[in-house]
Amino acid sequence: MLRDRFSAPLDERAAALSSSVEEDRALLGADLWGSVVHAEMLGATGIVPARRAQRIVTGLRRIAHDAAAGRFRLDPALEDVHMNVEAELTRRIGSDGERLHTARSRNDQVATDLAIALREELLGLERAANEAARALLAAAAGPSGHSVVDGWTHTQPAQRLYWGQILGSHALRFVRDAERFRRVRERIDSSPLGSGAIAGTSLPIDRARTARALGFRRPTASSLDAVSDRDASGDALYAACVALVHASALAEEFVLGSMPGVDRVRLGDRFVTTSSLMPHKRNPDLAELVRAESAPAIGRLVTHLTLLKGLPIGYQRDLQVGKPVVLDGLARTRLALEVLAAMAEQTEFLSPPVTDAATGSVELADALVGVGVPFRTAHRRVGVWLAARARRGSRIDAVTQSELRQSFPELPEEFRFPTGDNEPERRTSAGGSSWREVARLLSEVRRREKAGRAAAQREAVRLERLRTAAGIPERLFGER
Ligand code: ARG
Repeated sequence: MLRDRFSAPLDERAAALSSSVEEDRALLGADLWGSVVHAEMLGATGIVPARRAQRIVTGLRRIAHDAAAGRFRLDPALEDVHMNVEAELTRRIGSDGERLHTARSRNDQVATDLAIALREELLGLERAANEAARALLAAAAGPSGHSVVDGWTHTQPAQRLYWGQILGSHALRFVRDAERFRRVRERIDSSPLGSGAIAGTSLPIDRARTARALGFRRPTASSLDAVSDRDASGDALYAACVALVHASALAEEFVLGSMPGVDRVRLGDRFVTTSSLMPHKRNPDLAELVRAESAPAIGRLVTHLTLLKGLPIGYQRDLQVGKPVVLDGLARTRLALEVLAAMAEQTEFLSPPVTDAATGSVELADALVGVGVPFRTAHRRVGVWLAARARRGSRIDAVTQSELRQSFPELPEEFRFPTGDNEPERRTSAGGSSWREVARLLSEVRRREKAGRAAAQREAVRLERLRTAAGIPERLFGER
């Protein structure tokens, strides 16, 4: 391919290393769309005679149609998706196909394809993160939302919480993730197409036209930067890391919560497995797998940054190695989030019997603060008192009013040591554990989730309209 000036074909092993056909499959729709728009521009500007340009466009649309029907295979010998499309076009329409690459380089092409594909992936990630938030909100709005369990610090009982707060807090994280994905997507607003190899072109192209047709606000400001800028890929990989770290925390909630003895979570049968040896096992493998996904995600971010560091500005072939890191990585992230959302939907959130952990100790200390005792003194007295009770083997739920009065004579008459169930209501501070605050949290998350979902929907409609105008079937996008 394009080797007339050389005396030998590319070494066979070198060709295998050079081919990016495998990862480029994800770029096929974007590549065809970019090519259609480019060819239309060549015709409109008269760089290619209008009739010939029209033939190119029709040929590309037919390829797109066949590709959507699974009838277009990429040939690894043709190195990448760009050469595959061009070769197929020329095979179909003859010499007019040889005009497609006028005023264009694979360097601006791959940058454009990536921008288009990333925009699409991010849209899917926004939806997946919002879906996870929605599943958690649904659970929080159900009866278990109102039930009370230990909130943990150091994986030890700390203070009692409504399940609604725990679920709503995980949901809040996923809503932030969706918003983060969206911000990354919205910054992908400039079209690299027309940057050429690194320097633009001497032909009278219309970059504003192609940018608009591909749904970008403007052409990129520098051809040199545009062919080597992979910021959006890095931003997306970072956002994926954060979302998967959040996912790992929720997955851990499921792993620990379903442990016999803890029993605060019951996973649905569709998301557990058994042991190949021990028939009694009901293992949370899927939660463990979701928990694990953050590790390769963090690796991908580090790989991507390492790949870029020290590269001279302008296209360098190293950039090719970053493509699967980003594209497979984001697809994998979306899958993990989707699994987690579905898992959350089928999980029961239980309230096991109260532990004897005296998690209301802070409310006792706070009551002493309320009658003028310095907090440190109160903390010490409550701690000593609890330790003495524990030595006597008295359970905290057996505490009596007279015992309290004796140990803390300055306590107001009406103070009661919180029971496991009414404890969260005592903490009415903004964002705290009382139900009024939890309800506020849930409605904020709901509002942001809804706004995010509507924005993603608007963007999906906008992009679909543009692709339809270019004659590119929807099936080449999104699902993979
Ligand atoms: N396959 C290349 C990539 O993925 C496309 C650009 C190749 N450019 C070049 N001058 N060899 O980055």
